[in-house]
Amino acid sequence: MISGLPSFTQLPAGVVLSAQHFDVDEATLQRLDPATLPAALATAVLKRRIEFLAGRHCARTALRQAGHDGAAPLQIGDDRAPQWPSGWIGAITHSHGAALAIVAPATRYAGLGIDIEPWVDAARTERLRAQVGIDAEWALRPAELTQAEWFTAVFSMKESLFKALYPQVRRYFGFHDAEVVAAGADSATLRLTVALAGDCPIGAEYAIAIARSDDFVLTLCAVPAER
Ligand SMILES: CC(C)(COP(=O)(O)OP(=O)(O)OC[C@H]1O[C@@H](n2cnc3c(N)ncnc32)[C@H](O)[C@@H]1OP(=O)(O)O)[C@@H](O)C(=O)NCCC(=O)NCCS
Repeated sequence: MISGLPSFTQLPAGVVLSAQHFDVDEATLQRLDPATLPAALATAVLKRRIEFLAGRHCARTALRQAGHDGAAPLQIGDDRAPQWPSGWIGAITHSHGAALAIVAPATRYAGLGIDIEPWVDAARTERLRAQVGIDAEWALRPAELTQAEWFTAVFSMKESLFKALYPQVRRYFGFHDAEVVAAGADSATLRLTVALAGDCPIGAEYAIAIARSDDFVLTLCAVPAER
């Protein structure tokens, strides 16, 4: 893993992760092959074009490392979800000059989610708390994390869960549709508070891995194909 970024001591079996730092400048845009940008992003601001390309670059690198040897156009699918090559599943995240992607064979996982977030400051935490969780979740804060760090971790875990379940749910769902029910500094369990799809019934539980660095929290959710 790149210095400054959090890293997991161990990835779920069969999951490959690729990460890169990027600058927001014209040279970086050219290095990332802007000809592959979808038409929908042709006029996007430079930062958006570069983060999109950096995420796709990580995804293709991870796919190659995992053994995928075909074309990987990775087009933008429904609700912005990346379209993975047949037989593969993955997830992308980017923030503040960092892009990461994870991939795995679809035979092993029904969904993957990854999310990186810079630590949220205490004032913003106060404003956003009610939108993201309930008191029972904040009460589960591990001793190693401050309140603001725990808020950031919970926010990130829910975004990872959203990405991981999207292939099954196929629609937007909100932060109160899952709750943290168990937590440590390096992992947590989220439980659905509503039925989201046939394979995602109310009460279904999902394990999330948490990694931290000085600047970021990184979370990962891998939903096994056989549950
Ligand atoms: C979609 C969402 C999760 C993206 O997270 P983010 O922190 O804003 O941004 P990130 O950089 O981490 O992730 C962006 C990437 O997520 C991926 N993504 C976007 N929508 C997606 C979806 N529906 N399914 C899977 N992946 C998706 C894309 O690859 C995107 O990057 P790209 O547009 O460059 O391809 C977020 O914007 C969102 O809508 N959250 C609300 C839904 C939610 O989290 N509910 C909680 C349920 S418990």
